[in-house]
Amino acid sequence: MNTPYYLCEEKSLRKNLELLKRVSDESGAKVLLALKGFAFSGLSDLVSEYLSGCTCSGLHEAKFAKEYFKGEIHTYAPAFKDEEIEEISELSNHIVFNSFAQLKKYRDRVKGSIGLRVNPEVSKSPVDLYNPCGIHSRLGITCKNFEKENLEGVDGLHFHALCEQDADALEEVLKSFEEKWGDVISTCKWVNFGGGHHITKKGYDVQKLIELIKDFKSKYDVEVYIEPGEAVGWKTGSLHVSVLDIVDNGMKIAILDSSAEAHMPDTLAMPYRAEVRGAGKADEKKYTYKLAGNSCLAGDIMGNYSFDEPLHVGQKIIFEDQIHYTIVKNTTFNGIKLPDLAILRENGDIEVVREFGYEEYRRRN
Ligand SMILES: Cc1ncc(COP(=O)(O)O)c(C=O)c1O
Repeated sequence: MNTPYYLCEEKSLRKNLELLKRVSDESGAKVLLALKGFAFSGLSDLVSEYLSGCTCSGLHEAKFAKEYFKGEIHTYAPAFKDEEIEEISELSNHIVFNSFAQLKKYRDRVKGSIGLRVNPEVSKSPVDLYNPCGIHSRLGITCKNFEKENLEGVDGLHFHALCEQDADALEEVLKSFEEKWGDVISTCKWVNFGGGHHITKKGYDVQKLIELIKDFKSKYDVEVYIEPGEAVGWKTGSLHVSVLDIVDNGMKIAILDSSAEAHMPDTLAMPYRAEVRGAGKADEKKYTYKLAGNSCLAGDIMGNYSFDEPLHVGQKIIFEDQIHYTIVKNTTFNGIKLPDLAILRENGDIEVVREFGYEEYRRRN
């Protein structure tokens, strides 16, 4: 198989989905897939076996949800626009507005259930880039700006305040959310706790999440939704690339047929270091290399890794856990080929489900 390609493992995805379904069954919450983090059409049937639907960030994700997934479609965007609201309304069971201005502008044109996103102003998000409750955040209505007298047609409240966090962080957010909107929650049909729950990460306190949801549901008698993206795609597959050349400038640098910038964007944005199968940290093993992308961006670097044997041109390198927030964010920067999409089926077969080439670059430029 030609590199680069992402290989999503059916078995690992099923394991995540089973846990998320357990959360749903035991807590009574509905779990939606946040397409922004994991939109893999080849595995949509599997996702639909376990989850209640998709949460979407606008028209295109809502259309994708309708085309490939089953269940409910919820759509939230920081702002909707006139020429899209009709179609979004046709597709969506829930529409969540980010301001009272948007609510007033569009509420009469919405068919489904209407919600408002609020900003609980509590978050322990690890980096500002991913902190929805950071200073001057545009995401969600603050308590100060909330117009309790203007809730006509509003069925629910939505918050999204977490990023890769545990159930303790949710507990803190819920405390602030209830302090600020307790009286409104009592009048709601549903509340959406957003995403950022790192449920499928080892050590996450799943029982605590279940108890928090159950307590909330019984206190307010509302439907509760959670909408994880990362927890669905967490550790479900890898990015496979090849060494194209090895150069030397104070150390050995292996140039790969991939790009941190184009194919592994969060390694630069978060930033974090992706694991490489069989490799160690710099100097841990005998042969250390800088792994770098095939673009002209100087900082297109995956990091320094060490190996038991010297690398050679043509060698395959596998970056672990490269499914969530990669495929959905890829670019064709520098005309670098998008990685193909493949599935490792539970019976061991590998199936290529999408192949990309020049056309993707041409149509975007
Ligand atoms: C509104 C909303 N819901 C859900 C999610 C999914 O979050 P995660 O992938 O961290 O679970 C996000 C992520 O940014 C979001 O903005």
